[in-house]
Amino acid sequence: MEENQRGHVLVVAYPAQGHINPHLQFAKRLASKGLKATLATTHYTVKSVQATTVGVEPISDGFDKGGFKQAPSVEAYLQSFEQVGSRTLADIIVKYQNSDTPVNCIVYDSLLSWAIDVAKQFDIYGALMFTNSASVCSIYWQIHQGVFTLPVKQEIEAVSLPGLPPLGYSDLPSFVAQPANHPAYLAAILEKWGILNEIDWVFCNSFEELESELVKTMLGHWPLKMVGPLVPSAYLDQQIEGDSAYGASLWKSTSDQCTKWLDRKPENSVIYVSFGSMANIASKQIEEIARGLKASNRPFIWVARDTENKLSPGLGGEAGLVVSWCNQLEVLAHQSVGCYVTHCGWNSTLEGLSLGVPMVGVPQWSDQPTNAKFTEDLWKVGVRVKKNEEGIVTGEELNKCIKEVMDGEKSEEIKRNSAKWREFAKKSVSVGGSSDGNINEFIEKILKREE
Ligand code: UDX
Repeated sequence: MEENQRGHVLVVAYPAQGHINPHLQFAKRLASKGLKATLATTHYTVKSVQATTVGVEPISDGFDKGGFKQAPSVEAYLQSFEQVGSRTLADIIVKYQNSDTPVNCIVYDSLLSWAIDVAKQFDIYGALMFTNSASVCSIYWQIHQGVFTLPVKQEIEAVSLPGLPPLGYSDLPSFVAQPANHPAYLAAILEKWGILNEIDWVFCNSFEELESELVKTMLGHWPLKMVGPLVPSAYLDQQIEGDSAYGASLWKSTSDQCTKWLDRKPENSVIYVSFGSMANIASKQIEEIARGLKASNRPFIWVARDTENKLSPGLGGEAGLVVSWCNQLEVLAHQSVGCYVTHCGWNSTLEGLSLGVPMVGVPQWSDQPTNAKFTEDLWKVGVRVKKNEEGIVTGEELNKCIKEVMDGEKSEEIKRNSAKWREFAKKSVSVGGSSDGNINEFIEKILKREE
């Protein structure tokens, strides 16, 4: 392909680990198919991105020195990002306008709805990227459509929505069940639906087989294309240049230490515990997790980002390794890991599914309760803990769930399903797979408009 015939897609990510990872992966997949792809994220986070096949450009959220932490509130942050971000995103388009590779599509994070206006301003394609499951996004859409109203009553038996199993109060995303807790995020999430008719594609980091009923239901409503799992190709048994890791880590990882430690453990014996990059776990809950792990009498690795100071010294003893951050995929892919205690963030859930690791879901907030529900009831690749009346998962409960997943009655079925979903995940992004086909269709359309 001649350089001047390449399409150029600008992928714009919200500056959080769980958002940068899938956007960067999407950009890498486009680049592997001959397109020019550039990732744009904020000045403060862009320095953490190391990509060899993808260009990287900074935009501004108005807090270039310290990012989100500098903002007085979530509202102020999102507002500033919209104002300054729109301008600096437009600057990037202008920068490439007279080059061999002018930008002809913006793919933007679903928290950054304003990016569609920049695409319209330059008369180029605009596509929305969901970093949540399509199922969770459909719940938000139903609210926007007025199918049900907030707040949802805690006593409801179940909410019945098209393409989804009945959802109880505790299965709903926290922004829906407790809308008053995070009004700014909820507003940003709901905002995008008003402009759906202006969007050329809705991409989702998921795959058709995983949410097949929902995908069928939504097809008439959204220009939906499932393009995931957006996990580095090396972990899906593919070989794409420059794609052996995500290539963006907001914290320093201790992977060498983890791998060496795991190498000395028997196959399928280790519990990997992580609550992602954003969850704020209460001290009491941490103590209970520690009790549960101790009672399990199994080796464990615990990623305790920001919570290390809440742990009693020497907690792990011989059995446990506590780290502040690791290369999660490397750990999940290790043969010694047999169980994943997870907060069920969407990336983490997809990673567990893609690597075939049985899960214990300990959801905290946002989309995680719904992901945990599906992990247990729909995909049957794990179990979800029950919280007590104080909202805490006791050590006994955690230990019970770990046992169930690793060698309880359901464990064989869970392991079989985990292996099955790993195969589906790999297939969807391989040549001829559903997500691979969706990406190819998108590229064809981008190139046609160029001619
Ligand atoms: C949150 C939401 O929960 C998620 O569903 C949403 O779509 C994005 O925002 P987060 O809490 O960070 O994200 O969780 P998750 O989506 O699971 O993303 C965490 C990412 O960090 C994963 O890709 C995981 O591989 C990575 N990670 C985590 C590491 O690389 N090292 C670690 O030690 C822990």
